[in-house]
Amino acid sequence: MKITVFNGSPKGANSNTNVMTTAFLKGAERAGAQTETVFLIEKHIEHCKGCFSCWFRTPGKCVQQDDMTELLEIYQKSDIVCYATPIYLWNMTACLKQFLDRMIPLKCPTVVQKADRCDMADSMKLPETIIFSNAGFPGENNFSILHESVKPANPILEVYRNCGMLLRSKNEEVQKKVAEYLVFVEQAGYEMVKDGKISEGTKAGLEMELMPLQDYLNYIMKG
Ligand SMILES: Cc1cc2nc3c(=O)[nH]c(=O)nc-3n(C[C@H](O)[C@H](O)[C@H](O)COP(=O)(O)O)c2cc1C
Repeated sequence: MKITVFNGSPKGANSNTNVMTTAFLKGAERAGAQTETVFLIEKHIEHCKGCFSCWFRTPGKCVQQDDMTELLEIYQKSDIVCYATPIYLWNMTACLKQFLDRMIPLKCPTVVQKADRCDMADSMKLPETIIFSNAGFPGENNFSILHESVKPANPILEVYRNCGMLLRSKNEEVQKKVAEYLVFVEQAGYEMVKDGKISEGTKAGLEMELMPLQDYLNYIMKG
């Protein structure tokens, strides 16, 4: 099984987001998966031009030549892809959104209607999707727009970490708590590969508090 993380943080390898997915991939590797992380910020990805050539003139092929050609190949060869992003203004970063817009060659002009939803159809069988995000603020509300945005991808798992600015803290006490949390993230990676889902215990661990609210607000206000 191949799992690829597409990291949409402008901070790339130094991101809080990467702390989460590194732990997850470690667990996935322990269960036998082959893994890769793509830092989108390092890639040359132009904006989608909205010309729909990839649907009507050259189906499946974009008119632009940039790193998306290679990235679409990596995507298609993956069994699971993880979209990983910090919350920027209640949603994914522009970096990840730009990448996702350019996935349109893999969709097709057919509209699929299910209950009250109308979505674009996929032109081929696509990898399963997992979402990772961390938010600088404590409230779970910071993830609600992202959660809605990713619904059409039918994620098999969504891992949302509030108080995300603690993930790369240099404070020893905080590091201990983060290490405790990352054990659950690693376990989630292991279980997803082994069982295709996570256990209730792991789910509860992913929701553990890293720091009481007021302490965290004091912590981030120090800058
Ligand atoms: C432009 C910008 C917008 C942000 N918007 C939010 C937000 O709406 N909600 C939130 O909780 N944090 C917000 N943050 C804080 C980031 O989510 C936080 O710093 C996060 O830990 C960065 O993760 P990274 O290291 O993976 O890039 C914002 C940060 C920036 C730079």
